[in-house]
Amino acid sequence: MPLKEKNIILGICGGIAAYKSADLISKLTKMGANVHVVMTKSAIKFITPLTLETLSGNRVFTNLFPPPKGDPLVHVDLADKADIIVVAPATANTLGKFAHGIADNLLSTLILATQAPILICPAMNTNMWQNEIVKANVQRLKDMGFYFVEPEWGELACGVEGYGRLAEVETIVEEIKTILSSKDLAGQKVLVTAGSTQEPLDPVRFLSNPSSGKMGYAMAKVARRRGAEVTLITGPTTLTPPRGVRVLGVKTALEMKNTVLDNFEDASIIVKAAAVSDFRPQRFFNKKVKKTPGKMEIGLKRNPDILKELGKKKGNRILVGFAAETHDIIKHAQKKLKEKNVDLMVVNPIGIPGAGFGSDTNMVKILDRKGDIVELPLMTKEKVAEEIWDKVVEIIRSG
Ligand code: PMT
Repeated sequence: MPLKEKNIILGICGGIAAYKSADLISKLTKMGANVHVVMTKSAIKFITPLTLETLSGNRVFTNLFPPPKGDPLVHVDLADKADIIVVAPATANTLGKFAHGIADNLLSTLILATQAPILICPAMNTNMWQNEIVKANVQRLKDMGFYFVEPEWGELACGVEGYGRLAEVETIVEEIKTILSSKDLAGQKVLVTAGSTQEPLDPVRFLSNPSSGKMGYAMAKVARRRGAEVTLITGPTTLTPPRGVRVLGVKTALEMKNTVLDNFEDASIIVKAAAVSDFRPQRFFNKKVKKTPGKMEIGLKRNPDILKELGKKKGNRILVGFAAETHDIIKHAQKKLKEKNVDLMVVNPIGIPGAGFGSDTNMVKILDRKGDIVELPLMTKEKVAEEIWDKVVEIIRSG
């Protein structure tokens, strides 16, 4: 768990987006992080320290002078204990101070005193964000190794639409996790498939299955966090593309096969979490098929088994397959592991509440070539992804 027991110092500057820091603190603490808030003088005008103290469960720091609790070294204490410093929202004024080493309040002093990674999440008026001085300051900080989650497009407090709105809290949390994760997949090129395929019958109908893409997206997200370069080949989903991942959209099993094969050579690890339709309608009707009296039949054609094809040409690549099974789970998964020549087969039972299709959680067993089976309890798909990547890392390390 990348955030469990981590000390996160959250710097808050004076801007309307300061209210979002309440949600950020609440999400981080729920994930097990210990959040210590440092506010600038103007931040206090937008949100009260008492609110943030209540949410974080820790004392909120506002001033360098007089020293809080009479402790003149509070900036050093916080700087030392930090696993990461996050500044959200960061104003143009504070960016300017950071970029030029000005230390005239607790937050800017802390930035000079720490050796922890620093993530800046700016929010400001569009014209300010596009101002050449601000751009130069941002570039200067990036060159010095500061991490950024850049502002998003949207309606701003000043009434105009443009870039400048604080990034979504989920995006900031994902970046914190990425910065704090171990990089044991660095140098790996990972190809993940996710979601269902849709096999069209006519312009308004298709054959498909309930895969939401959540399991595959979690695999892609966690791989990126752990340092891999990730390509995600996805069937139609309603999910937001993961940050920092190359996403290629497909619809049918044939499109998925072609896109996988186009990207296979380059990959060192392939994860097939997609629920690929084994069949497609024998023919596609150009016009909507009308109801007719009596029996109606659809002829079906086999789709290629993409994973099986990859198994034949895998070479040194690591191949991870998924299986959705309703009964004799282990027996079927072991058979698929052998037949498809994969290194790991992750099997999820279908029909158990909270596992398999559509849910945010899953309950899987991970089978390997040696015959070992890891049985995991019900947990989030992200946590399942962590466990699967741990197994992959073991395989990489064992050579
Ligand atoms: O997307 P979610 O809602 O989060 O749900 C996750 C999931 C249940 C879809 C996922 O965890 C999962 O189990 N995916 C594989 C489901 C499946 O297609 O199982 P299968 O037993 O039919 O196929 C076994 C493996 O062969 C899979 O890796 C599949 O990608 C691959 N396959 C299958 C058929 C085919 N024509 N080509 C393939 O490559």
